[in-house]
This record gives sequence, C-alpha cells and structure tokens, in this order.
Amino acid sequence: MFSGKKILVGVCGGIAVYKICELVRELQRKNAIVRTMLTPDATRFVSPLTFESLTGAPAPVDLFQSYKNEIEHIELATWPDIVVVAPATATTIAKFAHGIADNLLTATFLATRKNVLIIPAMNTGMWENPATKDNIALLRSRGYTVVEPAYGRMASQREGVGVGRLPEYAVIVSHIFRNLWENKFLADVSVTITAGCTREKIDPVRFISNYASGKMGFALAEAAAAMGADVTLVHGPTHIDPPSGIKSLQVESAEAMFAATKANYPLNGVLIGAAAVSDFRPAKFSNRKLKKDEAEFSIPLVKNPDILFELKALKKKSVHVGFALETNDEIAYAKNKLKNKDLDLIVVNNPQDAGAGFSVDTNKVKILFANGEIIDVPLMNKLLLSVEILKNASTILKNQNAADGR
Ligand code: C5P
Repeated sequence: MFSGKKILVGVCGGIAVYKICELVRELQRKNAIVRTMLTPDATRFVSPLTFESLTGAPAPVDLFQSYKNEIEHIELATWPDIVVVAPATATTIAKFAHGIADNLLTATFLATRKNVLIIPAMNTGMWENPATKDNIALLRSRGYTVVEPAYGRMASQREGVGVGRLPEYAVIVSHIFRNLWENKFLADVSVTITAGCTREKIDPVRFISNYASGKMGFALAEAAAAMGADVTLVHGPTHIDPPSGIKSLQVESAEAMFAATKANYPLNGVLIGAAAVSDFRPAKFSNRKLKKDEAEFSIPLVKNPDILFELKALKKKSVHVGFALETNDEIAYAKNKLKNKDLDLIVVNNPQDAGAGFSVDTNKVKILFANGEIIDVPLMNKLLLSVEILKNASTILKNQNAADGR
C-alpha cells in the first residue's frame, strides 16, 4: 500500500504513545519506510530506544543534537513524503497553531513543506476546550488535515468514556493513504459503489446469502476517496469496517441495496457494482421460525432486481462498471453481461484462481471494455487494482464529457 513511501511519525507525550509503536509496525507491514521523532515528554511514556529498535533508525528528541552531521530538523523536514503527528497533544497543537518551535518536533513542523497529518489524542476536557478548538480551526484553515479523535474509554478511570481517543489504526492508515495520493483525477466526481453480500430473510433467524466479504468494494471506495471523488458506498452486512470518512449506507436485502443505490445514483459520475447481490429471495417471509417437521422442505424463490441492469435506465452521462465472477467461459459470459447491463467496463475474475476471489486481499482479473478491448491485470492487492479500475473509468468519463462538449 505504501511501497517505498517515507513516513515521519512525530510522537508527542500522551498516554496513547504506546499505540504508536504498533502503528509504526502497521505502516512497515504496508511497506512504508518509517522514521520517528519524539518530544521530550513522549520519552517519559516510551523510550526512544523502542522506536529505534522498531525502525532501525535514530528516534531523535533533542533539537540541538545533530545526527549524521546535519541540522536535524531540516533533514527531518525534507526527508519524508508525509509527516504524521500522533498522538498530537493539546500543547503541541497549540505550538503548531502559533508557530512556536521550541523542540525538535515543533521545529520540524514549522520547517517542513511536506503534507502534515495531525492525529490528536487527549483527555475529553482538553479536546473540548475552546483554546484547542480554535487552534485546530486555525490549522485546518491553513490546509492541514486534523483527524477527529475517536469516542470510547479514556485512559483515566475517573473519566469513563468520551471523545479524545486515538483513532483506530485502519482510520489512520486511510488518512495517510488519502494524503499521500497526489493525483486527484476524480476530484469532485460522484462515485457510487455497491459492496459485499446481501441477505434475503427466510424467517426471523435464517437468511440466504453468500461469501462476499466487501473487501473489493471497500478498496474501491478507499481508492476513489484518495483520488478526490465524492464517494457513496452502499454495502451489505460485513465483518470488516467500511473505510472511514466515506458516506456509507448499510443495507440488508437486494431490494434495499437497489433503493439506496438508485437514491444515490451518480448522474455524471461513476457507478460500480462490486456487490455480490443475491439473485433470488424467498417469495414469502415467515414471521415465525420455520419448523423441521417435514422430511423434505422447499422454499419458493422469486427474482431480485438486478441493480446494474435496472439502473441502465438512468444512464446518460455516467460510466457504469460491473464485476463478473465466473468459474468457466469467463470472457464469453462477461461480454454478455457488459452488453446486457450496458456497462462501460467489466472486471472478470475466477474465484478458483490462486489469490483471487472473496475473502483475500488480492485479486487477479481481466478488464473488458465496451469497445472490445481486453486488458489482463496480473495478481495485485485489491487497493492497487481499484486504482487501475478507477483510472480506466475516469478516462472513459473524461473522454465522454469532452465529446459532449464539442
Ligand atoms: O449477472 P451477474 O450477477 O453475474 O452480474 C454481476 C454484476 O452485476 C456485478 O457487478 C454485480 O454487482 C451486479 N449485480 C447487480 N444486481 C444483481 C446481480 C448482480 O447489480 N441483482
């Protein structure tokens, strides 16, 4: 995800420091090159040695000590692709807002021209204090991204629950990804994505569903957001959380997914059907739990709406993308779907291919276009594949808009 990207993590003195050790690991697992710098107060919670051992690089604290014979804060300010300050304490945020450079971290902040992502974590009282609020508003007005802290149990037993916790790692990772992605070629384009499975209720305790995890659709939503799109994600029940900061609508049945997708149809944007929608639903929902008295039992089924097929009626200026999951004759079947559902491109995969399919993080696909072109995409991470799909959709959309404007 972050292959070769250089991330400088600035660590301030709050109890959430212990979580930053794991954050560093998480960024490394995503192939980032991570360095750290600490405020003097941060070292009272965790020793720089911990960060040095994790990163294999110095974890400097002192503004006046020079490592590698360079002026430390200038070297640190120019080295990274992004600076992530976590946990950002109320004091450091105040110093950032007022240009106070009294330690290595704050001096690096003032000197850097790189993107800085500020991830506050502090006690609820400090977070809600008007001084903190004003400082954050000032930083945001200058273009810095300040992530909202999470709600939950605070470090102090006395305080119980409140807003001020460090956000989950996945939320931080999403923000870093969106900040690092410079090519905003879907800026302000509406992108609506269906994802995951649907559930068709049989009785109060049973349903018909499938193995779709939502991973492909969620990766598409994450990538589209990073590219600047205005994303709506309509998803069925999943075991993973949808990407943060995205308009996500959770639905259960195919009919509900159809209604929500139609209500959020992108008029001059991109519609992506990544959901594995149940083709049928029970003809009748039983209010009572069905009994096992009979030796044989059958449930009459009726057809569900085909969302992509139905929404082709609304298609004027939008690009429609579909998925086809086939175990045999995939090209022939996919071509049929492309035509029948009036798609601009269709992504074909075979769940029996190694690394492809439902619950894995990778996929191996072919992309078929309405003009007959086919591209073979090698096995890759679902996020990078999403970038590939969205780039193609965006090119078609731009060409269409250019042709319309002639
Ligand atoms: O026809 P098939 O189900 O194989 O088509 C798959 C594509 O159509 C996927 O993009 C899927 O999201 C979409 N689809 C849909 N509504 C359905 C069934 C499939 O939008 N009821």
